Amino acid sequence: MTELSPYHEDQELDNNTSDNIHFRDILEQHISRRSLISKTASGAVALTLASTLTGCNDDDNSNNNGTPTTPTNPDKKPEKLTFNAVAKNLNDIVTVPEGYQATVLYALGDSINPAYPEWDDNNIPSGPSFQFRSGDCHDGMHFFGLNAATQRFDESVSDRGLLVMNHEYINPTFLHPKGPTKVDGRRPEDEVIREVNAHGVSVIEIKKDQTTQKVEVVKNSVFNRRITGSTVMDFAGVAAGSTLLATGYSPAGRQTRGTHNNCGNGYTPWGTYLTTEENFIGYFVRSAGDDALRRPEEIIALKRYGLKAGSSSRYAWETAKGGVESQDLYDRWNADVKTDTASSDYRNGPNTFGWMVEIDPFDGRQNPVKRTSLGRFAHEDSACRAVAGQPLAFYMGDDSRGEYIYKFVSDAKWDTKDVNGGYRAGDKYMNAGKLYVAKFNNDGSGQWIELSYGKNGLDQSNTVYPFGSQADVVTFARLAADSVGATKMDRPEWCTVNPENGEIYVTLTNNSNRGSSYPTDAANPRAYEDLYNNETVQKGNVNGHIIRFRETGDLTTAESFKWDIYLFGAEASMASNINLSGLTDNNDLSSPDGMWFDPRGVLWIQTDDGAYTDVTNCMMLAALPGQIGDGTKATTSNGTETLVGKKVTDDTLRRFLTGPKECEITGIAMTPDYKAIFINVQHPGEDSADYATANSHWPATQTNPGNTTARPRSATVVITRKDGGVIAG
Ligand code: FEO
Ligand code: CA
Ligand code: CA
Repeated sequence: MTELSPYHEDQELDNNTSDNIHFRDILEQHISRRSLISKTASGAVALTLASTLTGCNDDDNSNNNGTPTTPTNPDKKPEKLTFNAVAKNLNDIVTVPEGYQATVLYALGDSINPAYPEWDDNNIPSGPSFQFRSGDCHDGMHFFGLNAATQRFDESVSDRGLLVMNHEYINPTFLHPKGPTKVDGRRPEDEVIREVNAHGVSVIEIKKDQTTQKVEVVKNSVFNRRITGSTVMDFAGVAAGSTLLATGYSPAGRQTRGTHNNCGNGYTPWGTYLTTEENFIGYFVRSAGDDALRRPEEIIALKRYGLKAGSSSRYAWETAKGGVESQDLYDRWNADVKTDTASSDYRNGPNTFGWMVEIDPFDGRQNPVKRTSLGRFAHEDSACRAVAGQPLAFYMGDDSRGEYIYKFVSDAKWDTKDVNGGYRAGDKYMNAGKLYVAKFNNDGSGQWIELSYGKNGLDQSNTVYPFGSQADVVTFARLAADSVGATKMDRPEWCTVNPENGEIYVTLTNNSNRGSSYPTDAANPRAYEDLYNNETVQKGNVNGHIIRFRETGDLTTAESFKWDIYLFGAEASMASNINLSGLTDNNDLSSPDGMWFDPRGVLWIQTDDGAYTDVTNCMMLAALPGQIGDGTKATTSNGTETLVGKKVTDDTLRRFLTGPKECEITGIAMTPDYKAIFINVQHPGEDSADYATANSHWPATQTNPGNTTARPRSATVVITRKDGGVIAG
């Protein structure tokens, strides 16, 4: 049953075979060596701050009545980190600093409705019941304060709120009573329903005791809700109603069912949640003979997004036989041309995923909305930069090897009166605007290249893809980006905005093919070898890095920027031309992925690693970064020049937490009083051979370290201080 073997997120597709490195780039590499030196000699970039400049957590916000809300940022950024760093370890537990406590809040299968009983390892609930239970593989997450009087978003409230989180994918080994099965070549329908429902998003109400800081799920809240791989969603934006989105379910291309592979997240300044559709393509099958029934441009697009003819699906949902649900709900995962028209089959099914999805956690009546103007790719995360009076900018990564960083700039200028505007505000800010892709020059400058139909060669005459409309451009954003020469990055993951100065940070988690199929450049400068377990050779950018950039003039609409590399992941013992940030045992890390600036300006960095896990489980660190230009130029072990930020110290980067065995740490949220921080532990024990021999028994081990029998389950953890104080304060 190889097709049902566990999915590993690091099985990232290599679909970017575009040849967009031209002679011009090679010439620039030569020029840049000189300009790099002169730029650095002329001093760092000026960093005077505009007083209006904030991230999405600006305390400029007022509610719909124009009444100012209580400032949410009463606590200043700490001058240095003082908690005791957590040591690297391989223990099967979440470890936090002395004086802190970690409590499991919400684990796979936990009920969010009093009518559904508590989880029981030995009595796995039915597939349909997972509409009222936690999904699997918890990922991106955000806390929305809930105003008791208005029942709407209030960024100043900490004791009541909606915690919204992604359930990226599933670990079928532990989701089902005895792992995944097939009967006569078909997946049993109840298993498929359980799997589809274990994907998507959770909205749960939580309450926090203001004295003890104890956090609990409010199980009978009317806000508790699951959005799954079957939930009806609307399309909005430039591709809505396009023939590219026409399916048997929605011939007019206005709706689809479900969201899946929701990885990183985002949130809007008006109080809605953004969920991303990352490795969506793996859910579809396409027959070997299907190419013969397709137009040439369809084949180009399917190949670029990773659905070559003859592709099988990760979970084989298309094999289920309908009974409880209609057959059509399963047939839609087969993307073959089956009829005369796209309006009566699911050849366009893959086009209905890969979008940024808006969910109003305070409004359960309206459908979530897929915001197509932000482009279609393996969306990892998004960060919104909101400056009152300027258009909004949404920064987004496409997480596969050699993919790109994008930005969407709204036509509408941010007006704080739109706080709590729900989907109406989404229509205003996310449907009309411009999509850009980033090009990083080797001299520390960069350009945003506009991806608009009719500009930059994006028209019918384009040799990469014959673009006929903006709907084509956004649906096949990767092809548009290829044709304008965007920079191929080392797997762009999470994006976040520094609330102090508006600089944007993006994690580039790793790239095993950097230095081979992707030549190094200044923005992706490392290719080296490292041993895992003293035997297996790992190559390329083994440990990842974090790039940051600052818009010209600090404008969200800027079409150019300056960049440097804030941090290089490395093992503390690596050579100084690999460990370029000066990491020590208290803060060395590999494969940065989740990342978020809290409103004070503390940067939280999480890892989803497979390169340093011979030494330590995945982790979360706290950081106090400086600013672009605070470091120097550097030359990597492979001889590539780059710009690296100031070296970190024990005061500016410390390991705050380590996770249990074989997990990823992801998802970060905090109450506005900074007294509770939430993280997700994803896929503990993911390399277990089968359900009966688990490599991890977390979360049971969190309270009973000796447990050797419990099923490993992904879960949300809340961390508070034993003295009730401010986290990392
Ligand atoms: Fe789902 Fe790119 O991590
Ligand atoms: Ca190693
Ligand atoms: Ca991720």
